[in-house]
Amino acid sequence: MTETAALPPQTVLVFDFGAQYGQLIARRVRDLHVYSEIVPCDVTADEVRAMHPAAIILSGGPASVYADDAPSVDAGIFELGIPVLGFCYGQQIMAVTLGGAVGHTEKGEYGPAPLMRLDGVCGEEAGAEAEAVVPRSELLGDTPCSQTVWMSHRDAVSEVPEGFVVTSRTDVCPVASMECPERRLYATQFHPEVRHTPYGNDMLKNFLFDICGLEQSWTMDSIIEDSVAAIREQVGTDRVILGLSGGVDSSVVAALCAEAIGKQLTCVFVNHGLLRKNEPEEVEEVFTNQFDVDFVHVHAEDRYAELLAGVTEPEKKRRIIGEQFWKEFFAVAEELADDGRPVKFLAQGTIYPDIIESGARKTGGKASTIKSHHNLIPFPDGVHFELIEPLDHFFKDEVRALGTALGLPDHIVHRQPFPGPGLAIRIIGEVTPEKLEILKNADAIVREELDAYNESLFEQTGVRGGELPRDEAGGPEVERPVWQYFAVLPDVRSVGVMGDERTYQRPIILRAVESSDAMTADWAKLPYEVLARVSSRIVAEVQGVNRVAYDITSKPPATIEWE
Ligand code: XMP
Repeated sequence: MTETAALPPQTVLVFDFGAQYGQLIARRVRDLHVYSEIVPCDVTADEVRAMHPAAIILSGGPASVYADDAPSVDAGIFELGIPVLGFCYGQQIMAVTLGGAVGHTEKGEYGPAPLMRLDGVCGEEAGAEAEAVVPRSELLGDTPCSQTVWMSHRDAVSEVPEGFVVTSRTDVCPVASMECPERRLYATQFHPEVRHTPYGNDMLKNFLFDICGLEQSWTMDSIIEDSVAAIREQVGTDRVILGLSGGVDSSVVAALCAEAIGKQLTCVFVNHGLLRKNEPEEVEEVFTNQFDVDFVHVHAEDRYAELLAGVTEPEKKRRIIGEQFWKEFFAVAEELADDGRPVKFLAQGTIYPDIIESGARKTGGKASTIKSHHNLIPFPDGVHFELIEPLDHFFKDEVRALGTALGLPDHIVHRQPFPGPGLAIRIIGEVTPEKLEILKNADAIVREELDAYNESLFEQTGVRGGELPRDEAGGPEVERPVWQYFAVLPDVRSVGVMGDERTYQRPIILRAVESSDAMTADWAKLPYEVLARVSSRIVAEVQGVNRVAYDITSKPPATIEWE
């Protein structure tokens, strides 16, 4: 619990009961400019009191409240006088903890469901049941008497705790929401945090601003101010090296650290030979000419090639690359320390989705390991740093907004994500110089063509690839810019014919996705002309490739990268 020691005032704590997208709740709250953080669900009432949160939200979760290993909640949190809002499992756990009951509904309820409010304000629509409940639900506020909500449950509250009233129901679920305004306890069986509950955001606003009386104080300026102050406090007069990739995350950390500690910072760019065409040169140019920071370019290409020879298993590749990153940084730190001033800290651009997918290192939550992000692998023997990770609670689009607020140029802020292990996880099977050459050349064409496509859309719509898709931003449905795009080299060959000759060469897979935070993604519905141009250029210009395929899978069930 150390990281929650100094929470900003007016923090909303989200208790994580293992919800698949639990972090979305914190995200929605922060979108409303209120700071929010996730804590494990077994945090005690005493620990919560010490954190002084302004409100608590209990997330959903996959368990049944009566299962043997079902997560519970310290009943004391309901006695702290802090407003509490529960969603789904959060409603059920609130009910059973406070003396109500949960039962199996006859059939499960998954997806959109019509909701009927039962509070008095809905008059006749609420029917006779309205007489038994509150005149107006504080949580449901001005939202319509009949509306659609998103459900995903089998169990449901069958009996509300004493002092609670039922404020809405669906055909299947008799207690779709309940509240006890005197104690400021509220809960819904449905999910207000997902976009498919159209009035969910209004309910969240009712809770945060009307019920809890919070202010919209979590803004980019305050984030920068707080982060800079926190870095200064953590570092004191010590020295820091920063693992710089040239991507938006590490560049934003560089800008924050430069502002906080100036020349105590050295940016280290490890070139592992797995970067995109021309990338090392571009990063060096930006960080030597456009930034006033100390910059070290480490040429580690040969060391990585040797380490990766013969390795085919994705997690093994990730581990080797991640461990070697630490060793390279440590070697630079030791060299710098020759002047008698040791380097105590390593700063890096870890963001929240990295942590979630690597198995919830800090959140203490229950998410499983999908893939080990290079920056979250344990230090090997002999390497030690204290870490500075100012972005470890932020989503990609929040980091971009931060970059803009810090004055970083657009071409850095809107750079697409590029994984730390680089092209090694886009070459399926062993990484060899020949495959690297093919992939770099094919990828350069993909980027050239899709950069141009994105740019043409930007001119028409004013929306960039790194920004929210139009429908999420509330605008009309238009052709959307692509969020991330690249080439993948699978470990197969196929037969083709070129200039009357049989070929037996490699295919390239085009991956292009729409997303806003990399947690979920959909394949981009690219126009046929764009697909055709990418395909014919790759086959004509890249030696060793005779076929191009397009990956049309969303995340989930796939991930964005192939390994
Ligand atoms: P997946 O493949 O998990 O990727 O859907 C989600 C986003 O994260 C990027 N990615 C990484 N970024 N280090 C990084 O810095 C990594 O090890 C890593 N693995 C995936 C990926 O490009 C996508 O944007």
